[in-house]
Amino acid sequence: MKTQHKPSANTPSPLLGGLSPQAFLREYWQKQPLLIRGAVAGIADRLKPAALRRLAGREEVESRLVRKVRGRWRLDHGPFQPEALRTLPAHGWSLLVSGVNHWLPYADELLGDFAFVPHARLDDVMVSLAPPGGGVGPHFDSYDVFLIQGRGTRRWEISAQEDLEVLPDAPLRILKRFRPSQSWVLEPGDMLYLPPRLAHNGVALSECMTWSVGFRAPTHQEIAGAFLTYLQDRLALEGRYADPDLTVPVHPAELPQAMLERLGSVIDGIRWDRADVRDFLGTYLSEPKASVFFDPPRRPMSAEAFAKSAGQSGVRLDARTRLLFSDGRFFINGEQLQVSGRLRHSLMTLADRRSLLPGRIPAALQPLLYGWYVAGYLWPG
Ligand code: SIN
Ligand code: CO
Repeated sequence: MKTQHKPSANTPSPLLGGLSPQAFLREYWQKQPLLIRGAVAGIADRLKPAALRRLAGREEVESRLVRKVRGRWRLDHGPFQPEALRTLPAHGWSLLVSGVNHWLPYADELLGDFAFVPHARLDDVMVSLAPPGGGVGPHFDSYDVFLIQGRGTRRWEISAQEDLEVLPDAPLRILKRFRPSQSWVLEPGDMLYLPPRLAHNGVALSECMTWSVGFRAPTHQEIAGAFLTYLQDRLALEGRYADPDLTVPVHPAELPQAMLERLGSVIDGIRWDRADVRDFLGTYLSEPKASVFFDPPRRPMSAEAFAKSAGQSGVRLDARTRLLFSDGRFFINGEQLQVSGRLRHSLMTLADRRSLLPGRIPAALQPLLYGWYVAGYLWPG
């Protein structure tokens, strides 16, 4: 994502219908839905249906096709041949393309407009295309989402129902019962914010494109599992089991009590602290998704040429790069590094704004930036 300006917490934002980011977070975020008319001007012409179909044909792009065939929901994963998409019926389907921000600079900029939420919480921009009547059915998401109407119109219905039982045999989560309590017709540029687990259903009224700005909220189980794996890779325990005081057991098959005690205290001795948690979280949350690959430059320029170019035109992070920091430690695409005080400030700016202006790059930072350029994580300009 491209964040050019530091989001100012208390300034009314047109994106949020005149609310300040601070007020939005306090009143709506994770609490209640909000409809904002005319939130994103000019979005309708930023991506045409044909361009989305082309994206859905690419191997490296994650896409799905949701259809209702003879009353049953069906889900297919891309890439899709142009012919397969051209011959879809006039109704009853929805094409969903994830990570559009990796391929379309405008979507990357759009994601940057949501940087009033920490980068560690931002996920991606998904764009859907549906003919009149199309949609993915009534469902709930586990994450917050901003639904922005791109082209055409769509009716969104929502329900604060507690009954979230889903159809047992459907390939995607569809609510068994849906009792809408509110509905709106969204026009291009309108935006609907929905907190997690709020039931909703979007039905296209005309050929329709919807942009979803999505967030990440890992489950506790996922985080704990990933932390234990991280810890395992870093464990370096000394010693090996020994029992010089062994006596003849009454039951040879019984686990010796002394073994339980000794190994119990070895396991009790495994320790971690907040710094380990920080390093794990930075690594984990900056790790690109499995579907993401970088495109390093085929014939990289020399370090000198890069320094000159970066000095003249600045640098920007690749749209796929995730750069986070905490306490002088930086995490880029799943790797971590410690940076000394002098350079720290510049890297923090690069992480926050996702670019550094010309003239703001200390010479001592050039080797690090050059390495990232060679890896395809960052580009001059
Ligand atoms: C869509 O764009 O059709 C689906 C978005 C959603 O309901 O989360
Ligand atoms: Co949804």
